[in-house]
Amino acid sequence: MTQDAGALPGDRDESAVIDTTVAHSARMYDYWLGGMTNFAADRRLGAAVEDLIPTIRTMAWENRRFLGRAVRRLVRQEGIRQFLDVGTGIPTRGNTHEVAQQADPSCRVVYVDNDPIVLAHARALLDSTPAGRTAYLHADLREPGAILGHPALRETLDLDRPVALMLLGVLMLVADADRPRDHVQELMAALPSGSCVALSHVTADFDPAAVGAVVDAEGEGRMVLVPRTRAEVAAFFDGWELLEPGIVPVMAWHPDGEPPADPQAAYYWAGVARKP
Ligand SMILES: C[S@@+](CC[C@H](N)C(=O)[O-])C[C@H]1O[C@@H](n2cnc3c(N)ncnc32)[C@H](O)[C@@H]1O
Repeated sequence: MTQDAGALPGDRDESAVIDTTVAHSARMYDYWLGGMTNFAADRRLGAAVEDLIPTIRTMAWENRRFLGRAVRRLVRQEGIRQFLDVGTGIPTRGNTHEVAQQADPSCRVVYVDNDPIVLAHARALLDSTPAGRTAYLHADLREPGAILGHPALRETLDLDRPVALMLLGVLMLVADADRPRDHVQELMAALPSGSCVALSHVTADFDPAAVGAVVDAEGEGRMVLVPRTRAEVAAFFDGWELLEPGIVPVMAWHPDGEPPADPQAAYYWAGVARKP
């Protein structure tokens, strides 16, 4: 079910019940980023993961920095002015519309997340520049038809003009049984030539033991975490042209300063591709 943020926070439907007794990916990520939108269960599992990967907070920030670099580059180098950010997360510093509209105030952004707590905080994502526009959809990546057909998306984005599909740190939360590739392909198919996809994905390729232990810990907390190999991540880009430098460790994707000494210190693959 989809819902735009116009009626919220406060009004909730059946799909928007927040269970704070069970750890949730968006709130754990918020905890690692130093945010305030997390509860005891999130902090407990977040700390357990931190015991297994002591650099988890830095890794979360490296993923956010990639978001900033990718969005700036998409606006400045690729001429993108429209973004569809699926798996938005709880608003934090440097949200997609803030970065994009700093580069060009006319940028338009549609945010999508399926977590009711993100919906409850979605107002912070709607502070668009007057020249641009933002919208928030409470919707699920596994229902691409509902996202693409949503009136708020159609009012905000022109699907005849290039769009950047942002899939950062979200596909790892979708089990293979839920066919993430099919849903991503459906979203990509709806976008015109010249559109881009930016993607980051947790991997066990750099430290299988530590990431394996995190998968087990999160599984015990009833969470799904699916690290994917470089080849599996590459498959999401199928048919689109990877921009330089291709699929690389997230810290190595156009770093702002000096190249990182150990780019594999953050366990994410990242890449951006363009539709031919
Ligand atoms: C780790 S956060 C990533 C946030 C942001 N994209 C970033 O990279 O900083 C993952 C977000 O994806 C959302 N998410 C997970 N599964 C989803 C699904 N099936 N549909 C939509 N959003 C989903 C979670 O609720 C969470 O807010």
